Amino acid sequence: METRSRTAPNILVTGTPGVGKSTLCEKLSEATGLKWLEILKIAKENNCLEEYDPVYKCCTLDEDKLLDGLEEVMSAGGNIVDYHSCEPFPERWFDIVFVLQTDNTTLYDRLIGRGYEGIKLADNIDCEIFQIVFQEAKSSYKSNIVHRLSNISEEELENNLQRIYGWLQQWFYENQLP
Ligand SMILES: Nc1ncnc2c1ncn2[C@@H]1O[C@H](COP(=O)(O)OP(=O)(O)O)[C@@H](O)[C@H]1O
Ligand SMILES: [Mg+2]
Repeated sequence: METRSRTAPNILVTGTPGVGKSTLCEKLSEATGLKWLEILKIAKENNCLEEYDPVYKCCTLDEDKLLDGLEEVMSAGGNIVDYHSCEPFPERWFDIVFVLQTDNTTLYDRLIGRGYEGIKLADNIDCEIFQIVFQEAKSSYKSNIVHRLSNISEEELENNLQRIYGWLQQWFYENQLP
């Protein structure tokens, strides 16, 4: 799938749970009309979850089934994919990748607020400290399409949205049909 065959770009919004992906994606989708694909929700709705992990209190993904189901919509373009990892997805799906980040105190407070505890809480904080998702993104996509965005405050959220709108405008300008 070539970028040129899409009439609108595909954006990946990734980062450790709690960095604010869903909050940003919802606003971005409302403002732009791009489709917000919240991967965990889609996986649940389409029976793409495998066995339950009692320690992490979550399920693993049936990646093959999920990716097959998304291929058509991703080929068409115009999607914002929201997921805490970029590992399952083919590189060709995305025109740009945003990795949201916070400081550890902010993330800790947000995850506690969401009821995370024990190993799940500690692992997610470690994930942010070691920038695991950013490292993963850098090794999965061309480095010039991977961008880190600090997303600690409402002000930063607004700046991040403006930056993405700017990038989108440029994409449509460069890829407009003759
Ligand atoms: N930029 C921000 N400033 C302040 N609070 C935020 C910001 N982004 C998200 N939040 C809050 O942080 C929590 C986690 O956000 P959420 O979007 O659910 O994260 P994720 O989808 O990455 O797990 C929510 O309570 C949300 O309101
Ligand atoms: Mg979310």
